[in-house]
Amino acid sequence: MSPRFTDLVAHLPASVPFVGPETQERARGRRFRARIGANENGFGPSPLAIEAMRRAAADIWKYADPENHELREAIAARHGVRLDNVVVGEGIDGLLGLAVRLVVAPGTKVVTSLGAYPTFNFHVAGFGGDLVRVPYAHDREDWRGLLDAARQCGAALIYLANPDNPMGTWWPAADIEAMAAAVPERALVCLDEAYVDFMDASLEPRIDIESSRVIRFRTFSKAFGMAGARIGYALGPAGVMREFEKIRNHYGVNLVAQAGALASLGDAGHLPRIRSAVAAARDRIGAIVGTHGLAVLPSATNFVAVDTGRDGAFARRLLDGLLARDVFVRMPGVAPLDRTIRIGCGLDSELDVPAAELPAALDAACQT
Ligand SMILES: Cc1ncc(COP(=O)(O)O)c(C=O)c1O
Repeated sequence: MSPRFTDLVAHLPASVPFVGPETQERARGRRFRARIGANENGFGPSPLAIEAMRRAAADIWKYADPENHELREAIAARHGVRLDNVVVGEGIDGLLGLAVRLVVAPGTKVVTSLGAYPTFNFHVAGFGGDLVRVPYAHDREDWRGLLDAARQCGAALIYLANPDNPMGTWWPAADIEAMAAAVPERALVCLDEAYVDFMDASLEPRIDIESSRVIRFRTFSKAFGMAGARIGYALGPAGVMREFEKIRNHYGVNLVAQAGALASLGDAGHLPRIRSAVAAARDRIGAIVGTHGLAVLPSATNFVAVDTGRDGAFARRLLDGLLARDVFVRMPGVAPLDRTIRIGCGLDSELDVPAAELPAALDAACQT
């Protein structure tokens, strides 16, 4: 006899939003030579963060402060908000799960873009929500279309990533501010800003967090280079953030991650350094693929969508060719986004690998 799983869980497909590179390496029996497929930041964390984490390791016998107080104070100061506008959690992925749980019951309508970040969809499915997907417009998430769809179906939640994954495209601050001002009554927007730290802070949307119906999600995984630490935060109206307290995993954030995140925020030179390294790597990726007649989409992130100019089947063959040649990259799952493959920024030594392997992978893709 099987245990009494809920109907919801019993009927969920056993899906994983992203199969990790380690899983692929185990299946191949070989390591990748370039790990540039998961939008990690190979330039690494701030040296101050590494030092703080080293010191914190000796205190790992302690539970971390469940209120993340010191870190929340630093985050609140960074964004000019109050302490009760900030929730710290196990990366954006963990926080998105909580946001979904706050408002989604079986049958609740949720709006996102067709081909947008799948981990959000995974959480919605996990709580029985009913996803409505709006097509991208010119390779950008269509914020007006998302709002229209939300009004029509009475959505409780709307998801938008700005800048976007998987395309790397973005909306200027004025558009996001216009979106925030037009959120349908009783709906909430999840504004996923995982990549916003790669942009200059002056380009960020200005949203009065207390009077909006927007939750902004930030992470230490991307520009701060701490993906393995699993730490991020949400900013939102105090009344919404208070509800997170009822359901969050109070001891879920680890002590080392807290120390690293706090030290990162104290290193004023880190983000400018990372932004210029990432911009140079984006240019290099453009040059590598440009030599072979491929174009790149404009990107405000630490990855570049390379437009194969062909269909999804061709892009898949190219991706497989690169994987077979030890280059870990990924591609979007649905048309028309799946004409692209996504190449992440990395150290020069890593980008040397696709530079060397792309010609053979392209030849193989063309011949099949
Ligand atoms: C749009 C987007 N949101 C969230 C995440 C995950 O962030 P975290 O590591 O904070 O869970 C990613 C990682 O690739 C992402 O692309």
